[in-house]
Amino acid sequence: MKYVVGVDLGTSAVKVLLMNQEGKVCNEVSKSYPLIQEKSGYSEQDPNEWVDKTTAALKDLVAQFDGDVSDIEGISFSGQMHGLVLLDENNGVLRNAILWNDTRTTEQCHQIYDVVGEKKLLDITKNPALEGFTLPKILWVKQYEPEILEKASVFMLPKDYLRLKMTEQIHMEYSDAAGTLLLNVAEKTWSEELCELLDVDVKLCPPLLESHDLVGTITDSFAAETGLASTTKVFAGGADNACGAIGSAILIDGKTLCSIGTSGVVLSYEATKDRDFDGKVHYFNHGQEDAFYTMGVTLAAGYSLSWFKDTFAKEEAFETLLEGLEEVPVGANGLLFTPYLVGERTPYADATIRASFVGMDASHKRIDFARAVIEGITFSLNESIEIFRESGKTIDTIISIGGGAKNETWLQIQADVFNARIVKLSSEQGPAVGAAMLAAYGSGWFNSLQECAEVFTAEDVSYEPIPENVEKYKELFNLYKQVYVQTKELNEGLKSFRKN
Ligand code: XUL
Repeated sequence: MKYVVGVDLGTSAVKVLLMNQEGKVCNEVSKSYPLIQEKSGYSEQDPNEWVDKTTAALKDLVAQFDGDVSDIEGISFSGQMHGLVLLDENNGVLRNAILWNDTRTTEQCHQIYDVVGEKKLLDITKNPALEGFTLPKILWVKQYEPEILEKASVFMLPKDYLRLKMTEQIHMEYSDAAGTLLLNVAEKTWSEELCELLDVDVKLCPPLLESHDLVGTITDSFAAETGLASTTKVFAGGADNACGAIGSAILIDGKTLCSIGTSGVVLSYEATKDRDFDGKVHYFNHGQEDAFYTMGVTLAAGYSLSWFKDTFAKEEAFETLLEGLEEVPVGANGLLFTPYLVGERTPYADATIRASFVGMDASHKRIDFARAVIEGITFSLNESIEIFRESGKTIDTIISIGGGAKNETWLQIQADVFNARIVKLSSEQGPAVGAAMLAAYGSGWFNSLQECAEVFTAEDVSYEPIPENVEKYKELFNLYKQVYVQTKELNEGLKSFRKN
């Protein structure tokens, strides 16, 4: 039996997943790492910590494997998107990576619009200037740490740095490059025009590949450190959302995904490069060659729940925190939560807005708050679904993966809020499965990713919307949408009191 490994380099942890040729998950090891948040709006990580934790996870995986290691044929990646890693000419890391959920770059987003113009930016990149994307981060370093940018010889994204440390090869692939705001998404080339206009040296942009492309084999030293065979082939990999889509078989038109990790996304497959959403949702290259996807993002989805647990129930397991969730009625006994802990992306690109609990009552228990957090995250994702539906898309079935698919009550809440049938797969590990599938397809086990998906993915159970709950959630959703409008100015006033 042959095997592949999918590495999911996430924001809170790295997961390595061993899958066999029959698409069975044989083992999984995970290692977590913290966020570095020095100031409000800042979010960083040390790239070498990703490498250390992945190496340790792979070492554990190999130690627990009782077959012949040379049967582990290939490895590929899913990576948290947008994070800026700057390297010097010796491939040394010049500063901590600035992550996708870091929103310090509002000023640089305005600069991009002033210099490039909104229309041209949308024409080239298909996306608006958002704080989370990589280009504004490069411009921030240029403005505030010019000595660092001067020393930089290349920029990379998180999983590309990890792959570099495993292979000594420098590359980026299209699905992640799409989130830099420097790629011409339709033409799949770096935009020299944008680089010139913004005075970014195009030489900083690495060579581009397809997600399933072979990069090489792991180095002897990486093989020695992990116990993997030095013949293990390394494939480029994809952005975590592209991999989530691959691992959930979102590979043909009409398919929609809801993925709740640290961030939460609603993503829809696009066969062509020319649909127009006017920048309201992201439009990125898929990990499937020449395909695309559109996507709305809630910055703090799973993060809202983990923040709530870490702040108010640190010692408890999620299962204990959520005990009795199903007994709390729709609307959490009159408590509403907006998940804007680190600002928001879709539909409000707003780095200043912050979260609220509205309607706290002396009778509320902790479980009412937990239910309100879960409902608030789901309402936020429903705003993206609303954009898709308004554009004419039919969304009647949604595949749900990630943390939101681990809890039955939350799956039913998704069905009721989204007013759609929710499908749970037999593994909710979408991005890691997608990464493993890229290695399986790249290794030649299948003729296409779709063929691979038939073996590697399976539907488990589905949840139908309950009409009575759908009606109640429609009413609550209208109230939810008012909270943004009514707290916007309040949060602008509170901004100067935040940790600066
Ligand atoms: C997508 C985004 C997040 C990250 C999470 O644009 O910023 O979903 O990819 O890792």
